[in-house]
Amino acid sequence: MCGIVGINGAPDVCFDLLAGLKRLEYRGYDSAGVATLFNKEFHRQRAEGKLINLERIVKEHPLPGIIGIGHTRWATHGGPTTSNAHPHQGQYVALVHNGIIENHRELRAGFDQTLFQSETDSEVVVHLLDAYIKKGYDHAAAIQATLPQLKGSYALAVLFKNAPDTLVGICRGSPLVIGHGKEGRLFLASDIFAFADYCESVTYLEEGDWTELKNGTVTIYSHGSTHPVTRPSLPISADIASQATKGLYRHFMLKEIMEQPEVLQNTLEKYAHSEAWLTKMPTNPWKKASGLSIVACGTSFYAGCVAKYWFEEIARLPVAVDIASEYRYRHPALPADSCALFISQSGETADTLAAARFTKQKKIYCASLVNVAESSLAREVDQVFQTYAGFEIGVASTKTFTTQLIVLAALTAEVALLRGEISAEERATLQKDLLMLPRLVEETLKIQGSLQRLAPQFERVKAALYLGRGALYPVALEGALKLKEISYIHAEGYAAGELKHGPIALIDDKIPVVVLAPHDVLFEKILSNVQEVLARKGQVILFTDNDGARALNTLAEGMQVCILPKVCSFLAPIVYTVPMQLLAYHVAAFKGTDIDQPRNLAKSVTVE
Ligand code: F6R
Repeated sequence: MCGIVGINGAPDVCFDLLAGLKRLEYRGYDSAGVATLFNKEFHRQRAEGKLINLERIVKEHPLPGIIGIGHTRWATHGGPTTSNAHPHQGQYVALVHNGIIENHRELRAGFDQTLFQSETDSEVVVHLLDAYIKKGYDHAAAIQATLPQLKGSYALAVLFKNAPDTLVGICRGSPLVIGHGKEGRLFLASDIFAFADYCESVTYLEEGDWTELKNGTVTIYSHGSTHPVTRPSLPISADIASQATKGLYRHFMLKEIMEQPEVLQNTLEKYAHSEAWLTKMPTNPWKKASGLSIVACGTSFYAGCVAKYWFEEIARLPVAVDIASEYRYRHPALPADSCALFISQSGETADTLAAARFTKQKKIYCASLVNVAESSLAREVDQVFQTYAGFEIGVASTKTFTTQLIVLAALTAEVALLRGEISAEERATLQKDLLMLPRLVEETLKIQGSLQRLAPQFERVKAALYLGRGALYPVALEGALKLKEISYIHAEGYAAGELKHGPIALIDDKIPVVVLAPHDVLFEKILSNVQEVLARKGQVILFTDNDGARALNTLAEGMQVCILPKVCSFLAPIVYTVPMQLLAYHVAAFKGTDIDQPRNLAKSVTVE
C-alpha cells in the first residue's frame, strides 16, 4: 500500500530518493518523507499530502549523504499527518515500512510511551531495534532479536547509526526488490518500477529474507539468520523503463485505455495463437474439478464475475465468485476435488493473498491470474496465468481488466475442451473470435470523441445507474466503479431485470442511466427494462451495435445511443468495457479531478 525506497552509494541521494518515490507514488499519496544518514546523524524531511509538497521542501533544504531511505504513504494506522509520515526515527535507527505490524499495540505497551512520536504501527519497530542497540547489540543481532516479535507483514528499509555504510532491507508478507545500479549504487524498493531506468538488474527478495547493501555489495540472509543465501539477479528490460512516462497523454489512465489493443494482442500471443494455446495447462484438476472458486477484490472481482458466466455456460463448470475480504470469514465449503483461482493485477492485494493462503491450507489446488509475474500471489500457488498488460500506473484499473478477461475467456475455452463440453472445432471458433478482439477494441476506441462530448452532461449529476444483463451485468458494475473512483459521482451497477425490485425508485429526470445492450438474445429483455426507465423520465445512454440501433426504432428518440462494433456475445464484455472506461475518464477530466491518483485510493492494497 505504501511505497518504500532505499539507496546506498548515490551522491545527492535525497534527489534520487525523490525520483524513486515519484515512480511509487501510485502506491499511496497521503504523505511522503526521506531521511539520510550522514556524519552519524539522521537528516529527515517529511510532508503531508502528495510528493510535490516534500519535493518543494527538499529542494530548499537538501539532505546530505549518499545513503538514505524514502516513503510514500497510504494511511492505515494514524491519519495522514506529518508526524505519522515515514521515515520514523529513534536514537540509533531510522526506517520506512510497508505492511502492517498487527501486534503493534501489545509491543508498544512494553515501552515508555513518551518515546512515541506518531500513531503508526511502524514506529514500534524503531524502538525495538533501538532498545537492542542500546544494550550493545550490533545491527544484525538487533534484527535477529526483533523479527521474531513482529506479527503481520512488512517490507522495511532501515538505517543504523552503528552500521553507517549499510542499508538494510527486510521483507515478510510485503514485496521488496533490490536494484543493481551503475558505479556500485544499490537500491531497495517496493517494486522494480522505482529504479528500472537506473539499474541493469534486479533481485527479488523471498519471503523472510533480509539483506545488507554495503559498498556496492549485496548480501542476503534468510529468516533472520546470518548465513548468506543466493538469490538470482535478473536483467531489467528496456521496455519497463519506457512505461514510466505518459507520452502524449494527459493521464496514465487514458494512455492505458488506449494501449488496450496492443496489450490484448500481447496477451493473446501467449495464450491463443494456435501453437501456444494454454500449452502449460495441466489437465488436472481442471478436467475433473467439481467446481471452481474465484476470489478477488474490486475490478479483479468483476473479472471473476464475468468468468462465472463463461465457465458455467461454456465449460459447464460450477463457479462461486467471492470478494476476497469476505471469503475466508464465511467458512466456504470447498470440496476436495474443486479448484480455486485468485485474480489480482498486483498479485499483492492482502485480502486476495490471505484468501489464497487459506485455500492452500485446505489442500485445494490453487491457481492465480496476475499481471505482476514475480508477485507473492504468483509465487505461492500451484499454477500461474499471467496477463501481459505491462505496468499499470493509473490507480483505476483499465487494461489489466480487459487482459484478465481475455485470459479467462481463453481458459474457459480450454477447460470446456478438456471437459468434453465443446469440440475441437468449437474451440477453434472461440479462438478465432478471440483473435479478432484487438481490432474490435481498436475500433471501439474511436467512440472516444462522442463520449467526451457527452461528459459535460454529468457536471451536476449526483448519481448514475449502470444496467446490464448476463455477462454484461458485471461490466455494468465495473463501469459504475470506474465512474465513482475517478469522478466521485455515486454510481451503482444493476442487473437490468432487478431494477423493478427497488432501484427504479431512484429514477427521475436527473439521473443518467447507462445501459449495455448488445443485440443478443437478451436484447428484447433489456429493452423492456429501458422502457421502464424512459417511462419515468430517466436519461438513458444506451450502448449497442448497429443491429440493436435498428431494432430500437422510435424508442431511440427518447435516449442517447452510442454505437459499438458488432461482437459475438461471448466477447461482448470485453468490447463493452472500453466505452465505460472512456466515459468515466472524460467525466472526470471534465470535472478536473485527480484522475491518476484519485482521493483516498492507492494502487495495490497490501493491508487487510
Ligand atoms: C479499481 C481497482 C481496484 C482493484 C482492487 C484489486 O479500478 O483498481 O478495485 O481492482 O484493489 O487490486 P488487484 O487486482 O491488484 O488485486
